Amino acid sequence: MSGPTTGAGGVGRRPIILDCDPGLDDAFAILLAAASPAIDLRAITTVAGNHTVDRMTLNARRICTVAGIRGVPIAQGCDRPLVRAQIVGSDIHGESGLDGPAFGPPVVDVDPRHAVDLIVELIMAAGEPMTLVAIGPLTNVATALRREPRLASRLREISLMGGAWGLGNRTPAAEFNIVVDPEAARIVFESGVPLTMCGLELTHQVIATPDIIGRVAGLGTAVGDMCAAMLRFYGDTTSRRRRSFGPALHDPTAVAWLIDPTMFEAEPMHVDIETSAEFSYGRTLVDVDDVLGLPKNATVPTRIDAMRFWDLLLDALATYR
Ligand code: RIB
Ligand code: CA
Repeated sequence: MSGPTTGAGGVGRRPIILDCDPGLDDAFAILLAAASPAIDLRAITTVAGNHTVDRMTLNARRICTVAGIRGVPIAQGCDRPLVRAQIVGSDIHGESGLDGPAFGPPVVDVDPRHAVDLIVELIMAAGEPMTLVAIGPLTNVATALRREPRLASRLREISLMGGAWGLGNRTPAAEFNIVVDPEAARIVFESGVPLTMCGLELTHQVIATPDIIGRVAGLGTAVGDMCAAMLRFYGDTTSRRRRSFGPALHDPTAVAWLIDPTMFEAEPMHVDIETSAEFSYGRTLVDVDDVLGLPKNATVPTRIDAMRFWDLLLDALATYR
């Protein structure tokens, strides 16, 4: 279980906090961020999403244990959405929220601070503007922005996975991360913080094909075995959908954007979040053609060079021994 220790920081690395709901694809985002020489992973915070927040926290500890990621605080966050009733994603991620691999007991502890407190503390104390990577529901992020109004001006960017301009994946109208907590998403999208929205039209361009799964399994390491088992489980659950895209690695795109934005094409767009409609509750209304002429509150990557993405991710996974 050796692997890159991280949290050490370093000149030129971009300081980030990764807020997540691990979650099969979240796991790859954690591994990519912790291994990248371009990223200084200052903390992992968990939020209720793919499953209950206690399971999300246990899974973050499991992933860091197997990968040998040490020195990065893991703090547990909000256990329910701001307003609506909680929903989970166990149909895709399983009852543990990270089904597929068999895990032993984690050796990485939980930080005693609440995730929202840790987010505020680290960002306000940082010597330079930090970046929040949000790859689960936005409950923690919205709560932090409300808790500390100065936070927005201290953030360089929020790079998030969520939303879609077309069909959703949790309802016909809405993508999972947004519809789990639409009110939180609205707070974040109206915060004025520079926002990058990696939505489904982007993330469905990076599907873990059998060839990719074979490359991951071929690493022959504990991390490779864990990732291959996750992808196989994820491929099975996603194959049950009528529009079976296969195991899309949604979340690591929000990290890859920070590491190498040249592998993306992106446009500034105006995005609103529906919080009052009955059937389209949680929809991201993305003004792709700028018909409204409203201020552009998000950068929306529309294309990714999938080959370069997979090479980046596989190279990162190969750094774990
Ligand atoms: O819609 C995909 C998103 O929902 C991903 O972040 C996945 O982990 C789930 O949380
Ligand atoms: Ca997620």
